Amino acid sequence: MNLFDAIHTRRTIKEFTAQPVPDDLLMQALEAGRWAQNHRMTEPWRFLILGPQSRQAIAAINGDALLEKTRADAETQAKMRADAEAKILSKPRIVAVTCCLCGDKEVEQEDYAAVACAVQNIQLAAWGLGLGMQWSSSGFITRPATYQLLGVDPAREMIVGLLYFGYPAVVPAPKPRKPLAEVSRTLP
Ligand SMILES: Cc1cc2nc3c(=O)[nH]c(=O)nc-3n(C[C@H](O)[C@H](O)[C@H](O)COP(=O)(O)O)c2cc1C
Repeated sequence: MNLFDAIHTRRTIKEFTAQPVPDDLLMQALEAGRWAQNHRMTEPWRFLILGPQSRQAIAAINGDALLEKTRADAETQAKMRADAEAKILSKPRIVAVTCCLCGDKEVEQEDYAAVACAVQNIQLAAWGLGLGMQWSSSGFITRPATYQLLGVDPAREMIVGLLYFGYPAVVPAPKPRKPLAEVSRTLP
């Protein structure tokens, strides 16, 4: 796929087919992340590939998070929990992305940007391989329970997102972007 085609046609994919994602394709996409630009060569990204047990556990955390906000009756709560868990488990592959924290605010800001570059590389590479991806920054991912589950020490690393991968079931239409003239200006 031509680079500009990949940039223009890439979409955030939220609905996936049940077709399993081969390990080597997932690894090829993550490999592309490793080659992202990063100031000072900090390589601040870490990728945590969730296995079956961790997927179940993260789905349960999503259920817990949802139920905290409701006063629905027990039957409704049971359904809400089941739906919340099923939503996460419908993602064929889940990879958590973290950013190492060094304690220097300026470097941490650069490092967060570098991790975002890595995620973009990963999503474009996945797209080129026929895979869809969604970057999720949903609130439940930064709960203490999620840090504990992933074995991430919040003093040393920050969870930046969960990446959901799979073969696209639905490719949404592109959302309109502001024209370049509106978001740029040429200075004298
Ligand atoms: C930092 C970041 C966090 C995001 N978090 C979410 C999210 O939690 N849920 C979601 O549906 N999409 C999320 N997205 C994807 C955007 O919603 C998506 O890129 C945007 O709607 C444009 O659609 P497109 O990617 O198909 O062009 C996130 C994107 C970024 C850059």
